[in-house]
Amino acid sequence: MSLWEGRFKEDMDDLVKKFTSSIAVDMKLYKYDIMGSVAHAKMLAKCGIIPPGEAQKIIQTLEAIQKDIEAGRLTFDGKEDIHLAIEEEVIKRVGETGKKLHTARSRNDQIALDERLYLRDEIREILHLIVDFQKTHLELAKSYSEVILPGYTHLQYAQPILLAHYLLAYFWMLERDKERLKSCLERVNVMPLGAGALAGTSLPIDRDYVAELLDFPKISENSLDTVSDRDYLLEFLAASALLMMHLSRLSEDLILWSSPPFSFIEIEDAFTTGSSLMPHKKNPDVAELIRGKTGRVYGDLISLLTMMKGLPLSYNRDMQEDKLPLLQTPEIIKESLRIYARMLKNTKINTHQMEKEAREGFFASTDLVDYLVERGVPFREAHQLLGRMVKYCLEKGRRFQDLTLEEYGHFSPLFEKDVFERIKLKSCVFGKNSPGGTGKRSLKHQMELAKLRLEEKI
Ligand code: ARG
Repeated sequence: MSLWEGRFKEDMDDLVKKFTSSIAVDMKLYKYDIMGSVAHAKMLAKCGIIPPGEAQKIIQTLEAIQKDIEAGRLTFDGKEDIHLAIEEEVIKRVGETGKKLHTARSRNDQIALDERLYLRDEIREILHLIVDFQKTHLELAKSYSEVILPGYTHLQYAQPILLAHYLLAYFWMLERDKERLKSCLERVNVMPLGAGALAGTSLPIDRDYVAELLDFPKISENSLDTVSDRDYLLEFLAASALLMMHLSRLSEDLILWSSPPFSFIEIEDAFTTGSSLMPHKKNPDVAELIRGKTGRVYGDLISLLTMMKGLPLSYNRDMQEDKLPLLQTPEIIKESLRIYARMLKNTKINTHQMEKEAREGFFASTDLVDYLVERGVPFREAHQLLGRMVKYCLEKGRRFQDLTLEEYGHFSPLFEKDVFERIKLKSCVFGKNSPGGTGKRSLKHQMELAKLRLEEKI
């Protein structure tokens, strides 16, 4: 028996029942569905659409249902979706009165409300987790403020940098993720109930009152758009895809850094796994899985974009398929952020190995170019001159540090004794103090900015 049996001659086919059901996934929204129904019942009573006593009865029943679900006493297996399941349960418990709950409401505006309430909570939790992740990075940056490692471009030695500078790069990436999510939250935080099936209602409802009860700063403007809209979810998925892309790139570095040719870090045993065959193995599976799960988040975005692109206004049942992305992506994001904040604190940083590698190659070549530029040589000329010096060193199997002042003199008379100070690893790194650079002073400023950001002073 269904709530709409009046119109139909036959019961729904069993296969169709199973096929159209979404209860297995949207059960997770029960709390929000009940929250929305409680506010709706209060509003119906306030507007004189149903008697206050009956609204009270409905509300008490909804609260009892929530307790029963949470205690595991009530399951909705075989039901179509969470909205019908709860409404049917209310009717089962309070009879005729229960039949008034769905007045001036459709599942089309109800699901939009549930999703927005749920997503609002998820985004707020994710924002906190991002802050935890950023704090971990800032703390690590402080404790390794003088450690130097090779900076790469094309995965070739480029210029040495401070480890703290590397760590803070992720601080700022996640800062942008935070901004995107905050901005998306503004559009999630709009109250859709009252749109009805698509056209609004002729009953004297008070949408602003529902918004106030549920702490929404505003109500949606167009009922047709309201039941058709999933932009809020798409924006969230797009912001999530970027966030996961950032975590995936961090994973890639950590995977490389923990492999023997690099050996920059050692992830603690508790955050790694062994091999079922090779006894000596210790694998960075957590980082690999985060990199792998990124694909699922991209998939969620693409599947929802694809699902929405051909839909005529307004609601279409296709939209029920938004549940998997809606429920899956926040879980992946939350567990990835949680595990990363903990894993990084449990990672040994092999600072000697980092510095040893930073000394490889011709790490001071751009500093020598700058040395000559400071003495009046045009950049392009200085660049060519350094190219010749690199070639000379490669032929002789030597490094800039091994050359004598006389040899420097063969390339340019402008080189003086102070050049040896200039090509020390620390000078090359600590001196890059252009704003946003890896130099010591710049880094100190960057850390202050990061701290202020966390305190939301800017
Ligand atoms: N379970 C449905 C969904 O998630 C609820 C809305 C159903 N509306 C309808 N007209 N069949 O989209």
